[in-house]
Amino acid sequence: MSLKVVIIGGGSSYTPEIIEGFIKRHRYFPVSAITLVDIEAGKEKLEIVGQFARRMIRKSGVPIELEWTLNRQEALIDADFVTTQIRVGGLSAREKDERIPLSHGAIGQETNGAGGIFKALRTIPVLMEICHDIQKICPNAWLINFTNPAGIVTEALLKYSPHKKVIGVCNIPFNMKNSVAEMMNCPANDIQIEFVGMNHFVFGKRVWMRGNEVTGQVLQKLIHQEGDYSPANIVSLGWSKEFLQALGMLPNPYHQYYFQGAAVLEKDLQAYRENGTRAEVVRKVEKELFIQYRKEELNEKPKELENRGGAYYSDAACSLMESIHNNAGDIQTVNTMNNGSIPDLPNDAVIEVNSVITRDGPQPLTVGPLPASVKGIIQQMKAFEELVIRAARSGKYTHVYQAMVMNPLVQNEGVARQLVDELLEAHREFLPQFN
Ligand code: G6P
Repeated sequence: MSLKVVIIGGGSSYTPEIIEGFIKRHRYFPVSAITLVDIEAGKEKLEIVGQFARRMIRKSGVPIELEWTLNRQEALIDADFVTTQIRVGGLSAREKDERIPLSHGAIGQETNGAGGIFKALRTIPVLMEICHDIQKICPNAWLINFTNPAGIVTEALLKYSPHKKVIGVCNIPFNMKNSVAEMMNCPANDIQIEFVGMNHFVFGKRVWMRGNEVTGQVLQKLIHQEGDYSPANIVSLGWSKEFLQALGMLPNPYHQYYFQGAAVLEKDLQAYRENGTRAEVVRKVEKELFIQYRKEELNEKPKELENRGGAYYSDAACSLMESIHNNAGDIQTVNTMNNGSIPDLPNDAVIEVNSVITRDGPQPLTVGPLPASVKGIIQQMKAFEELVIRAARSGKYTHVYQAMVMNPLVQNEGVARQLVDELLEAHREFLPQFN
């Protein structure tokens, strides 16, 4: 039986990560063909990554045929899974998303805040086109989306694209589980976390270790800053005892932007002055990675890939595809339609929660009403995400302005106007809907 995966954005420096995931899982998820797809601008990287991925596969001895192409529609023929890891406008667009807000004293960040809004505006129309192609060419394929802002993009697709087999994935819940396991000194499989919220705004509501609830113990360890809790791309400031005790849940590393905004901004500005934006740092990391990827003798994922914030995303992505393929009925944390799991949010909102994974896709587990402490801010974030999606579709200035001013990291009418004006101008080429 053939099992084909198409990776859109295949020239990304992250690709060896997912290739390693397919190799490791081949026994239970026997992928037979992988096609890497990219655009003309990414041709050179695609070739380097393609050759390297082939060497990885050859070394492992698994029978996977790997190809690469710039022809997306041809690549999609007979696909069973399609993954998307694209960055519309490349790292230079990311640099603008990060730098322009910082120059106005606002957090840029390509997923949260002002930068994330513009990343969504650039990305949603492109992903929508990809979904049209999938629907036409391989309608039974599952689209696994990691493209940021993953929750917003996934909601736009599930609501408005013709293709409904779409699931959003992020490494944050996975990393949180691993960090907790490290803190508790046990294997990750012994830890179960009930996640509630949205992508990059998810909380760990309750934690169990081998069936016993250990939420309080984990919070104590977090108070004492035991264990590494942030991915490479975000600061790690730690949390106060008062905050964690009042919250009674695990925040995720991105919550620092919302609950320690001034301190994070100061750190981001300091890092910006020293090393430039995260985009510039990533450019250097990528340059080094590509020097390695070119080496004929390299046939395993290099350690330096851990310098990227998305390190280990392939574990989340590959175990999801494996469970769909095997109709496993296990529980994984994904971005999917609410459908009543959280009654305080719209049924058609995309949320990040534990879901049962079968060949029919994710069935979210019931979370129940949101805890009073975070109900307000989660609803505000969801309303903000809806505003972003509306702006991406309409191309109207008022809509993007509304999204900007209502973003909890901006919430200043004058700054919002400056940011919208400058970012619209800076990204004009990649925002055809606004021209
Ligand atoms: C985190 C996030 C991802 C994001 C990545 C960025 O892991 O969960 O959504 O894409 O970091 O990492 P980078 O190395 O590109 O800054």
